[in-house]
Formats: sequence, structure tokens, C-alpha cells
Amino acid sequence: MTTTERIDHLDSRLGPDPKTTPTSHCVFLTGVTGFVGGTILSCLSKAHPNVRVKALIRQEGDAKELQSVYSNLTPIIGDLSTLSLLTSTAAEADFVIHMGGDNVPAVCAMIDGLASRTTTGSPLPRLISLTGPRSLIDLSNPITGNLRASSRPWSDVTDGHAILALPKDRMHAGADQTIIAHSVAKGVGTILVSPGQLWGRGKGHLKKESNAAFYYTTVKSRGRAFVIGDGTATWSWTSIGDLGDAVVFLMEQALMSGSERRGQVGVNQDGYYFVRTGDLSMMERAKAVSERLGLGVVESISVGAAKEIHPFGPIMWGCGERTRADKLAKLGWRPKDTDWRVLMEEEGGERA
Ligand SMILES: NC(=O)c1ccc[n+]([C@@H]2O[C@H](COP(=O)([O-])OP(=O)(O)OC[C@H]3O[C@@H](n4cnc5c(N)ncnc54)[C@H](OP(=O)(O)O)[C@@H]3O)[C@@H](O)[C@H]2O)c1
Repeated sequence: MTTTERIDHLDSRLGPDPKTTPTSHCVFLTGVTGFVGGTILSCLSKAHPNVRVKALIRQEGDAKELQSVYSNLTPIIGDLSTLSLLTSTAAEADFVIHMGGDNVPAVCAMIDGLASRTTTGSPLPRLISLTGPRSLIDLSNPITGNLRASSRPWSDVTDGHAILALPKDRMHAGADQTIIAHSVAKGVGTILVSPGQLWGRGKGHLKKESNAAFYYTTVKSRGRAFVIGDGTATWSWTSIGDLGDAVVFLMEQALMSGSERRGQVGVNQDGYYFVRTGDLSMMERAKAVSERLGLGVVESISVGAAKEIHPFGPIMWGCGERTRADKLAKLGWRPKDTDWRVLMEEEGGERA
């Protein structure tokens, strides 16, 4: 079901019709010049053209460019380090979506702004912050490129609390936990959205490609597709379009549905959400790009060789964790883009 169809189906019991309410709603976005943030701005503006969007943008030129495309957008020129600006802008917003990377002081400042309008009782969802599942990687195990025999998919329902208690020195983990602790302390409902690998062309106006473009370019310049070890390491993936759709869906549940429904959207300790469509091993990915470019047999490289290509190479290509987006499924959300090969080649895609 598309976002628009879903809006049509939103039961009137859930509250006011979202098509008639958005002008009264103000959503504050960060990271809109980026791959993820650009897509979410586009999906939000399509689904809710009347929602008032305030967007933190660093460069005047980017602000002008985006304003020429999105008439509902008011730029807030500034940086994530200007905490007082973040707090005052969030204080005037009904909802905040942060897509500017792990930045604890910035997110906490926006939580402080949202807290000025909280009511008593259980915190209602007011903030979505983008994170990622790399916190699931246990780097005390050596990187091999192989799927560990003991590994199993992580569910955001059954493992949600464990994910928010992972060692804080893991990627994203410390930031995730501090943001949730601050939300609890301030009585604000926060949702952490964690997509895996992102496939497809960005839907935003500025940045259209991300990590998949880097692997494609590297393979092309080496003349061989490669994996680390046997290449069975597997990440879960979703399309960038479905990520945008899922975030808008969560915002709709949080902002535009009735209080009963809002109460069902888990926040804070129950607020970690995966977005996932399928699982894909590094070898499947390498074979697909090799076939596309006619490069023959996939090469297995060492961790050291991957590090020479890029300092982050072993983590990008030699690890993997599978996730299950059980919370979104419970709320009734389903991904639409189910074929990663189509997304790989979308619009002549230079990605793999
Ligand atoms: N891309 C992926 O494959 C992927 C997968 C899983 C999770 N995520 C998560 O999604 C989030 C966004 O990732 P992305 O790929 O969209 O990153 P990106 O393309 O690099 O975009 C980052 C955005 O944040 C803004 N930004 C960064 N530092 C800022 C600062 N100090 N002040 C103001 N704005 C600042 C950038 O603005 P400028 O344009 O001015 O630099 C840009 O709009 C991250 O939290 C990431 O962990 C991404």
C-alpha cells in the first residue's frame, strides 16, 4: 500500500483526517541535503504537501535550491553545533526528524525543545532519529567475511531492549543509549529508526547515491568484483524509497492518529525500529555486479587488502547482521520494493 493509499485508509476512529490537518502541523528536519534526509523530505512533502517543514541547512545555496522545489519548506540556516537554535526550533515543532548522523548534543538539544511542550503521562512519540544496525557488529570477533554459524537475525521486538544495552563503544550504540536516556529524563517519546543496507537511487533533490555507489566504483576500477573470505557475511537491506515511506508512516502514526493508536507506537526503551526488506550476502552482491560488468569470477581478498582499499573496507564488506522489522510489521507497514537487482540497476544505476 502506498503512503497516500494508507492515508486514505487511516480509520476515522484514529483521529482527524491527516489530509485536512497537516497545515496545522510543523515538522523540523535535519540532514535534508543528504541521501537519507533528502529522500525523507521528498516522501514527506509528497504524502503531506501542506505540512509546514522547517529544515536545518548549512549552505544558503542548498536552502535556495530546496526552496525552489519544496514550497512548504522554511530553511533554518545553521549547523548542528548551534544548540540554542535547535532547541528553539524544536520547541515550535510538532515533530522532529533527525537525519544528520550520530550527534548526541544536537539530538539532546532538540529533545530539550520538545520537552517544553510535553504533557503528563506516558511520553508520546515526538522525535525520529536515524541510526544504523552497525551496533550489532561485535568487533571482539575477528572479521572474516563469513557468516558466523552462531549468528541469528535480530528482532526489534524480542531483542529491542538488548540492542539498547549493547556495549557503548560499538558504532551507534553509545549515541543511541544517551539519546534514549535523555528522552526518558525529559518525558519526550523518541523513535530510533535503523535501516540496514540502502538500495536504489535517492529520491531527494540533491544527494542521490550512497555506499552502494562506492562498492560499484571500486569494483570497476579494480576490474574484479571481490568479497572478503567466502563472502557469506550477510546484511539486511531495504530500499531508500521504502525507508522514506516507513519514516513518514511512523510520523503519521505518531502525529496524525488518535491517542489510542499513538500509544501503540513504542518509544524510548521500546522505540528501536528496524526497517528491512530482505537479506543479501556479499557474494550475491559481488556476483551480480560482476555479471553486469562482465568481469568474470569473484575474487576473495584478505581483511588487510580490504583495509588498503578503504580504512572502513573490512567493516563495509566483511561483516553483516540480519535484522527483522517486526515492530513496523505489527503496526501494519510493509515494504514495496522487494527486488534488490532492480534497485541496483535503477536509472542505469552505478551501484552494487
Ligand atoms: N546511507 C546509508 O546507507 C545509511 C544506512 C543506515 C543508516 N544511515 C543513517 O542515516 C543518517 C543519514 O545518513 P546519510 O547517508 O543520509 O548521510 P549524508 O548523505 O552524509 O547526509 C548527512 C546530512 O547531515 C548534514 N550534516 C552533517 N553534519 C552537519 C552539521 N554539523 N550541521 C548541519 N548539518 C549537518 C549534512 O549536511 P551538508 O550537506 O551540509 O553536509 C547532510 O544533510 C545517518 O545517521 C546514518 O547513520 C545511513
